[in-house]
Amino acid sequence: MSDADAQKRAAGVAAAALVEDGMVVGLGTGSTAAWFVKALGARRLRITCVATSTATADLAISLGMTLGELGETRPIDLTVDGADEIGPGLSLIKGGGGALLREKLVWEASRRSVVIADAAKVVTTLGKFALPIEVTAFGHKTVQNRICDVLAEFDIGVAPRLRIKDGAPVRTDGGNLIYDAACGRIEEPAALAFALKSVTGVVEHGLFLDLADQALIGGPAGVTTLEP
Ligand code: A5P
Repeated sequence: MSDADAQKRAAGVAAAALVEDGMVVGLGTGSTAAWFVKALGARRLRITCVATSTATADLAISLGMTLGELGETRPIDLTVDGADEIGPGLSLIKGGGGALLREKLVWEASRRSVVIADAAKVVTTLGKFALPIEVTAFGHKTVQNRICDVLAEFDIGVAPRLRIKDGAPVRTDGGNLIYDAACGRIEEPAALAFALKSVTGVVEHGLFLDLADQALIGGPAGVTTLEP
C-alpha cells in the first residue's frame, strides 16, 4: 500500500470512530471515503446510511449496511467524505470522482460534515486541482463558453475540458456531463462559486465552501484534526 493510501485509510478509520449507534450517516464517494465505509461497516452499528453515489451504495450494500434515501430518513447526523483539495477555512474542491452533485446535496442536509484526506490534499490556495463543473448534456458547448466568460472575469484564462473516460464523455449518476477547469489559483472562491451557479446549464460545481465542520488528515505521524 502506498503512503497516500495508508494515510487515506487512517483518516477513514478515525472518522468511522465518530459514528454512534442510531445515527443517520452520509457516506461520501472516492477512495478515501471507501476506507471510511469499510471501517464503518466492520463496526456493525445499527445505523442508516445515505450514499452519495451508486458506487458507494454498492459498496455499502456489499457490506450489509442499511441504506435510506436522502430526504426520506431522519436528518443526517454526520457525513464523512473525501476531497480533492482542502484550502483555508476548510474550503474544498470536490468532484474528482464525479459525484459532486449528490455529495453537495448530502453535505447540505447534514448536521455535521467531516472531510477526510491524505496530507497531500491540504493546500494554501485552491485551484491546482482542476475544478469539476457538472453541466447539462443539452447545449453543453454553449454552457462551456459561458463558463469561460465567467472564468475570464476572475482572470482565469483557461477553457474547461470535457471529462472523457475510455473514449467517451463521463456521465454522472444524474446523467450530466463534467467539465474540469484547471484554474491554477482560485483567489476568490466564494465569488467564483456564486458566478458559476448563475450560469444556466451549470448543475453544480466542486467548490464546497462553509460546509466542512472538521477535517481528519492522515499524515506520516498519524491523523491530525483541522477546524475551519
Ligand atoms: C468524488 O466525487 C470526490 O468528491 C471525492 O471525494 C474526491 O475526488 C476525493 O477522492 P479520493 O478520496 O479518491 O482522492
